[in-house]
Amino acid sequence: MTKLPNFSSRAFFAPMAGLSDPALRLLCKELGAGLVVTEFISIHAVTAKAEDITKFIEFSEKERPLAVQLFGSDREKLKQAVKIVEPYFDIIDYNMGCPAPHITEQMACSALLQEPELTRKIFRTLVQSTSKPVSVKMRAGITKPDKWQTIAKIAEEEGLSMITFHPRTVKQGYSGKSDWSQIKELKHLVKIPIVGNGDIQTPEDAKRMIEETGCDYVMIGRAAAKNPFLFQQINTYFLTGSYASITPKERLKYFFKYLDYSNNFEIKTSLIKMQAINFSSGCPGSKELRTKLGKSNTFEEINELMTEFYDQLN
Ligand SMILES: Cc1cc2nc3c(=O)[nH]c(=O)nc-3n(C[C@H](O)[C@H](O)[C@H](O)COP(=O)(O)O)c2cc1C
Repeated sequence: MTKLPNFSSRAFFAPMAGLSDPALRLLCKELGAGLVVTEFISIHAVTAKAEDITKFIEFSEKERPLAVQLFGSDREKLKQAVKIVEPYFDIIDYNMGCPAPHITEQMACSALLQEPELTRKIFRTLVQSTSKPVSVKMRAGITKPDKWQTIAKIAEEEGLSMITFHPRTVKQGYSGKSDWSQIKELKHLVKIPIVGNGDIQTPEDAKRMIEETGCDYVMIGRAAAKNPFLFQQINTYFLTGSYASITPKERLKYFFKYLDYSNNFEIKTSLIKMQAINFSSGCPGSKELRTKLGKSNTFEEINELMTEFYDQLN
């Protein structure tokens, strides 16, 4: 098992396709996330963009430690893709969670939860292709929690350094609840570090997950995309037992920081719009703002709408 880098916090920012862009990751990192991870990236896309990989996968040094998340099960391509990304990232993470049918049809991501022997070969290829630590992020099964224990054992046997577990099935999508009792079971099953994931909204939730499951780290997705300040709150809470709350206006301030960082990367306007919607969600008047944002087409228009919205908040 290759040693993991040191993490400054036990709270990690989750990979989220179409959300965890390099500007948002940087903001989460600055606000205290112990690890940030790129959204999932196809090994076929990585090999096709080999010449221009740092333009294709944008990141900044300040994000470190930084994990890249790959998906795809063609082992020859996987080997090539790992060699291409390895020099730039601190951890190679492998996706076994995405439930999207157009992906699982390619025998990738969560489809592999049904295929322990193929998964073993993939893990072996990953570990043999890199000197960097390899981790996996997985769900609990397809239609019911199934085979995840076998997959976790295989991960440990093949030398993976960490497992992130989102204990929902593919069928569940994001409905129902993340079954934290399975994180506890996983923690007892293997010796490698476990990252618990699913439904953490508050610092209290983060603490409860660690206490109830014994997991080593927690990973937060949707709640952190709306409020990256959550990482600072969690870290303060873990250290002191209390934390400062944040007003909608204070939360929105971080959007402008995000906007500023986004200038350093090639982030699509549609994504920036999505971030604006996320950051402002729950603020008074956010519904009307969303309609206006829907009609905006440029960075300047989004900035103007958000500034106007910010100014009228108390
Ligand atoms: C819009 C969106 C995109 C996601 N993309 C990815 C991804 O690229 N890779 C991955 O492993 N998980 C992905 N996830 C799952 C999250 O990483 C996380 O496991 C899930 O949201 C549960 O955590 P949460 O309750 O803290 O949001 C995505 C989730 C969302 C909502």
